[in-house]
Amino acid sequence: MTNTNDDITAFYNGEYMPIDKVAISPFDRGFLLGDSIYEAIPFYNAKALGGELHYQRLLQGLAAVGIETPYPLEQWSQIIASLLVKNVASQLVYIQVTRGNEQIRKHRFPVNAQPTVLIFPIPFQSGIDTNYPGCVAHLQDDMRWQCCHIKSTSLMGNVLAYRQLHTDGVSNDEALLVRDGYVVEAPSSNLFMAKDEVIYTPPVDNILPGVTRTLVINLAKDLGYKVIEKAPSIEVLKSADEVWVTNSMEELKPITAIDQAAVGEGVPGRLWRALFTAFQALK
Ligand SMILES: Cc1ncc(COP(=O)(O)O)c(C=O)c1O
Repeated sequence: MTNTNDDITAFYNGEYMPIDKVAISPFDRGFLLGDSIYEAIPFYNAKALGGELHYQRLLQGLAAVGIETPYPLEQWSQIIASLLVKNVASQLVYIQVTRGNEQIRKHRFPVNAQPTVLIFPIPFQSGIDTNYPGCVAHLQDDMRWQCCHIKSTSLMGNVLAYRQLHTDGVSNDEALLVRDGYVVEAPSSNLFMAKDEVIYTPPVDNILPGVTRTLVINLAKDLGYKVIEKAPSIEVLKSADEVWVTNSMEELKPITAIDQAAVGEGVPGRLWRALFTAFQALK
């Protein structure tokens, strides 16, 4: 079998190396306990989209869980510049920083651990364009922990949401997560809905503050739309004219049905199209 990772260079604890040569310790707390923070930054023709917001979120996540940042803000972008694969139009740079390891497995806080840093680029294509027909979504209970604003690699709740889709035979559909009757987020994207020309998106009190979300809110305001940060109830979401989800890889993905019921006219809507088009111009 051809190894498609051959050309990928990774940055691992201060050194650049082929990704297949990275050897993470079995004692690393990121591996054993999910004790780590990650970030994923999209680059278009080697230029980061929302770079500053991504680096800030990384440093905020590290501070939130008490992992000392191994590099100051400026150095991250220098390290990453050397990793970008040449001649690739779009690539996502994945960054993971773990609390490190003390050559032992234990829950208790380590005294001497040095953070482990792994960074590598993943060439990608969003797969969404103006001909995209739309995606079906399914409501599910949100089973995640109570600090969803932290971009932690402990992602079991998110993974189980996708497992449910897989079990139901709809792996390519989307899940929308419901907390106390309100729809807050998807397992790897933020939620937007539009009703009567007003755009709504849940506030970032206990969801991931998505960078794409911020960019889309700014674009919507620039285009003259009112944006209200409020989570919709299930009923309100189902009565929306348009629904879409956002993340760095899929950008803006229109949801055209929720649990068998069409959203609006059951096709990607006018506001989605306007924002999707404006978003392309940011690259
Ligand atoms: C739970 C969750 N919400 C939202 C997002 C979107 O964040 P961003 O737009 O920064 O990619 C992600 C991205 O991975 C996510 O995992």
